[in-house]
Amino acid sequence: MVKQPSKIQVEKLSCYYNDKCVLQTLSLDICKNEILSIIGPSNSGKTTFLRTLNRMNDFDHNYSRKGMVFLDEENIFHMNMEKLRMRVGMLFAMPIPLPMTIYENIIYAPKRLGIAPKGKSGKDAIVERALKDASLWDEVKDRLNSSAMKMSGGQQQRLCIARILAVNPEVILFDEPCSGLDPISTAKVEETMRALKKKYTIILVTNNVKQASRVSDVTAFFLMSRLVEINKTAELFVSPKEKETEDYITGRFG
Ligand SMILES: Nc1ncnc2c1ncn2[C@@H]1O[C@H](COP(=O)(O)OP(=O)(O)OP(=O)(O)O)[C@@H](O)[C@H]1O
Ligand SMILES: [Mg+2]
Repeated sequence: MVKQPSKIQVEKLSCYYNDKCVLQTLSLDICKNEILSIIGPSNSGKTTFLRTLNRMNDFDHNYSRKGMVFLDEENIFHMNMEKLRMRVGMLFAMPIPLPMTIYENIIYAPKRLGIAPKGKSGKDAIVERALKDASLWDEVKDRLNSSAMKMSGGQQQRLCIARILAVNPEVILFDEPCSGLDPISTAKVEETMRALKKKYTIILVTNNVKQASRVSDVTAFFLMSRLVEINKTAELFVSPKEKETEDYITGRFG
C-alpha cells in the first residue's frame, strides 16, 4: 500500500504552563487517514498536546509554546482560529450534549458557523450523514426530535462525535473518549473510530493501552513531558525499542 502523505507535522513543539515545561521538543508526523494513539501515564502532556493542536490554550495566560505545527503544510498558529477548529475537531472524555433534541444538537454548530443550508432537506441531509458516520443513525432515526439528554452515555458520546462531523472536519482529536463508558459502549465507539479513519485523520489519547493496540495504526508513548517512542502499533506492542515503553505496556508502572 502506498504510504499516505503527512496530514499534521509537529516540529520541535514545547509547551509550558507558568514556565514549567509540560511538553518537551516534540516532533512527529501524522499521516492522512491514520489513527495515532497517544498513551502514557497521568501528567505526561497528552491533553496539552491535543489542546495545542486546535489552539484551545491560546487564551490561557499561563500557557506558552515554542515550535511549529503544520496542517497540510500550513502553520496552524497563523490560521484563523475558527477555521482551524472547523478543520480540527475535539471530543472530550465526558459527553456533554446540549439540552436540545438530537436533531438540534447536530445542526447547532453548522448554523452557528453560518454553513448550514437554508432549506430543511439540506439540513436533514447533514444530520443524517453525521449520524450515519457516527454509527448512530439506526438507533435514533425514529426519534430525532426527542431530547439528547435521554440517550445512554455511549449514545451521547457518539452524538458528540456526530456533532463534530456535522462541520466536516479533517482531523478529529479524541481525549480519552471511552473513560466513562461500559465495555459494550466502548466497543461501539472504537468501531466508529475505525470506520471514521476512511475519511478523517484521528488522534486518540487513551489511558487504556489495550484500546490503543486494538484501534490505532501508530502509537506514541509519552512519559514525563516527552515522547519516548513512536512506531507502528503492531511493532510498538510486540517489540518496543525502549525499556520505559516496555514497562508501561506490560503494566509495570503507570
Ligand atoms: N491549565 C493548566 N494550568 C497549569 N498547569 C496545567 C494546566 N493544564 C495542565 N497543566 C499541567 O500540565 C501537565 C500536563 O498535563 P496534561 O493534562 O497535558 O497531562 P495528561 O497526560 O493529559 O494527564 P492525564 O492522563 O491525567 O489526563 C501537568 O503537570 C498538569 O498539572
Ligand atoms: Mg489528559
